[in-house]
Amino acid sequence: QIVDIHGREILDSRGNPTIEVEVTAQTETTGKKITAIESVPSGASTGKFEAVELRDGNPRYFGLGVLNVVDHINNRIRKELLGMNVLDQVKIDRRIIELDGTDNKENLGANATLGVSLACASCAAKALDMPLFRYLGGTNAKRLPRPMMNVINGGVHAANLLDFQEFMIVPVSASTFSEALRMGAEVYHYLKLLLHEDGMLTAVGDEGGFAPDLHTADEVFRYLTKAVEKAGYKPGEDIAFAMDAAASELYDEERDVYIFPGEEVIRSADEMISLYEHLIDEYPLISIEDGLNEEAWEGWQKLKQRIGDRVMLVGDDLFVTNSKRIRCGIELDAANAVLVKVNQIGTLTEAMDAIELCHRAGYQSIISHRSGETEGSFISDLAVAVNSGYIKSGAPCRGERTAKYNELLRIEEQLTLAKFEKR
Ligand code: PGA
Ligand code: ZN
Repeated sequence: QIVDIHGREILDSRGNPTIEVEVTAQTETTGKKITAIESVPSGASTGKFEAVELRDGNPRYFGLGVLNVVDHINNRIRKELLGMNVLDQVKIDRRIIELDGTDNKENLGANATLGVSLACASCAAKALDMPLFRYLGGTNAKRLPRPMMNVINGGVHAANLLDFQEFMIVPVSASTFSEALRMGAEVYHYLKLLLHEDGMLTAVGDEGGFAPDLHTADEVFRYLTKAVEKAGYKPGEDIAFAMDAAASELYDEERDVYIFPGEEVIRSADEMISLYEHLIDEYPLISIEDGLNEEAWEGWQKLKQRIGDRVMLVGDDLFVTNSKRIRCGIELDAANAVLVKVNQIGTLTEAMDAIELCHRAGYQSIISHRSGETEGSFISDLAVAVNSGYIKSGAPCRGERTAKYNELLRIEEQLTLAKFEKR
C-alpha cells in the first residue's frame, strides 16, 4: 500500500531545477515501510510533440523552478494514489493519466507524472526485494544494451560551431557490455589526446563529449576514425559510428531549409539526404537520429527509401516516445528505430507500451538519457528489462552519464546470459 508520496525540487546536471519523488509503501503483513526515490531528466533540444514539462515561470531560477510541479505531486497526485497497491503499475499510471486529463500532461506536468510513476515502480521492486530490471522485465529480461557513446557534442549541447548535435561511437565487436564500455572509454581518451595535440579545447559539453571547434561532420568522423585506430581497433569492424543530427533544431520552417550557422551553408531536405549518403559511403556510420525535421513525414519516407536498408533511421523528436506517432511512422514506413525517453511521454506504462509497439513492428529501440540528467539510473534497468538493443547515455565521462553505464556493469554481474546478441 502506498502510504506517502513526496516530491521535491533538486538540480539537474546543467544546474537547472528538476523533480525528485519519494514513494513510501507499507506491507500489509509485516507493516514494514519501504521508500524509493527516482528523479526526472530534462532535454535541451526538446521535440515539439513531447509531453509538457511544467515550469513555474516566476523569477526564481530564471523561470525554471518547479515548485508548482512539486505542489501537484504532494497534493493532487498524492491524494489520488494513497492506499493503492504499489505493485499495480498500470493502474497507478492510468489514474495519473486520468487525473491529468490532457493528451500531453499539461495539467499536472509530465515532470510530475513521470517522477511519481518511476518512483512507484522502484518502490515496488524494493518491496519485492527484486532488482529493478527483473521487476520490470520478468524472467525474460536477459540482454544488455550496447552503448552508443556521444563523444563529440555540438548543436544546442555545446557552445562550439558544430551544427550537428551528437557524434557517437558504438563498440560493435564487443561481446559483453563491460567490454564495450572499456573499448568506448579507451577511444574516448585517444580522442582527447588527438584533439589536444591539434591545439583544440578538450572541455566537455552537456553529455560529456568533447566540444571542439570543428565545423563539419566529415571533420568529426575523420577524428573519430583516427582515435579508433590509435586505440588499436578497426573502424567499422570493432567500433562503428552513430550520429544525432537533431535536424528539427536546424530547420527553418518559412524557407523549408536546414540552416547550418557554423558551417555557413543551407541545405534542402534532398541535400540533407545526399549528405547522409556521402557519410555512409565514407565512414562506418550505422545510425542516424532525427535526420530530418520532426514534421517532415514525407521527407522521412524518402530518407527511409534511400538509405533505410543501410542504417538505422532513428526517430527521436519525430516519435517522442508516443505510440500514436510511432504507429503513424510504422504505417508510413518512415523509419526503422525509435529513441525512447521516458520523460517525453510521462509515465512508465506508456513508455513500455511504445517500446513493445516498436519491437513488434521490427523497429529497434534505443533507450536514452536527456542532456539534462540526474544521478539516477532507472533507464539502465529499463533497457535490460525490455531487451533493448542500445542505450544512449553520453560519453563515458560526467557522473550523471557514468551512473547509467555503471549500473549496467552491476546488472551484468547478475545476469548469466549477459552476452550481446550478434548484430
Ligand atoms: P535533449 O537531447 O535531451 O537535449 O533533447 C538528446 C537527444 O536529442 O537525443
Ligand atoms: Zn535526439
